[in-house]
Amino acid sequence: MDKIVKLFKGTIIHSVELEKVEILTNSLVGIGKEGIIVYLKSAFEDLNQLEDQVKKLSVEHEIPNECIVDMGNKFLIPGFIDTHAHAPQYHNAGTGTDLPLLKWLEKYTFPVESKFKDLKFAENVYSKVVNRMLKNGTTTCCYYATIHVEASELLANIAGERGQRAFIGKVCMDRHSPDHYIETTEDSLNDTKEFVERILSKGNPLIQPIITPRFAPSCTNLLMEGLGKLANEKKTLIQSHLSENKDEIEWVKSLYPGIESYTHVYKHFDLLNERTIMAHCVHLSEEELHLISEQQTSISHCPISNFTLSSGNLDVRKVLKKNIKLGLGTDLSGGYHPSILQVMRDSIKCSNSHFFIDGEHKPLTFEEAFYLATVGGSRVVNMEDRIGNFQVGKDFDAQIIDPFAPNTPIDVFENDTIKDIFQKFIYLGDDRNLSSLYIKGKKINF
Ligand code: GUN
Ligand code: FE
Repeated sequence: MDKIVKLFKGTIIHSVELEKVEILTNSLVGIGKEGIIVYLKSAFEDLNQLEDQVKKLSVEHEIPNECIVDMGNKFLIPGFIDTHAHAPQYHNAGTGTDLPLLKWLEKYTFPVESKFKDLKFAENVYSKVVNRMLKNGTTTCCYYATIHVEASELLANIAGERGQRAFIGKVCMDRHSPDHYIETTEDSLNDTKEFVERILSKGNPLIQPIITPRFAPSCTNLLMEGLGKLANEKKTLIQSHLSENKDEIEWVKSLYPGIESYTHVYKHFDLLNERTIMAHCVHLSEEELHLISEQQTSISHCPISNFTLSSGNLDVRKVLKKNIKLGLGTDLSGGYHPSILQVMRDSIKCSNSHFFIDGEHKPLTFEEAFYLATVGGSRVVNMEDRIGNFQVGKDFDAQIIDPFAPNTPIDVFENDTIKDIFQKFIYLGDDRNLSSLYIKGKKINF
């Protein structure tokens, strides 16, 4: 075993399967110097035995006292994974909630994104959004930036400096975009290549580039083709939007009359594979879902955004039945809230709404929503072997939650079990309950 440099003692809560949350009291997690979990022993029945083990480990591994963390009545959960967020749109979060997608893009979103040419403007918004994400326990985030290489690199630098794990995408759009916010095909391809190389050359394993065609309507065939090639050459992840809004779907049909479906458009340009994350996917046909499953493509479920922009409700059961990789996304600022806890709540409401409609849909439980926010997200970014829950060999991306924090939105009563308290945190908790945050073993300031 690698040497333990930090030891956590107390209650661990994480998902092991979709329906199964494990609550492990009287447990120990040991972290090695690379930020990897090197020791995990759970549910000591005898507290003396637990204390003996702490003593034994502290001598064997020479762990200083200040590196033994007694979590008391707090509990440890994995960091949240936001599989879809637009960092520049944080500027607008909580505003512009009155229009459907295509009008919303035109009136609110393109204008604000075009301002990121100005690095000062970008720095202000990007510092704030990364901080806000961390405050809300998001240890991994898939960000869309804007078309601007310099500002996109700045976002990568800010996330990197703050210690967040992030996929950063320079957005690509060379058609059907306003004059003040559009690129030529050539610039888009060259700039994306340059961006990918710059990010990779930084050598920070936590910060990865992700190829980001905004969505089919804003990318020419030539651009889509080039991005497909580049993503395959560099073996990067890919992110885009798919089947979010009915007008958008009709538009894609009119742009590609010869291609079977919106999903097939991405497939046609080699952008639909096991490294792709498609956001929304609200109105997919059975055939399209089947294609996604066949291609092992991931779906980012963004219920806050889908409600706010009146896009529609994804049927998560249909997706889960096909064993498609599924995670949660805030979709800032189509989604107005930066917290994955809020997304979990809306994912449950969205699922309940399917039950109202057909009487058969099995509503998502809070345990399942928690799975999607953690293990589900880790599968979406193909990092199931590294993050998402606590196992020896995985990176330590974790939150210490304090349900008793001052000014807490949670009231705990005498007979509440740990599971009740955990459920109260999922439904009522917020950033005031986050006591400490770790990413790859490193304590993060927020
Ligand atoms: N489709 C294309 N661009 C966007 C965007 O910025 N947000 C959302 N929600 N959908 C999109
Ligand atoms: Fe989006």
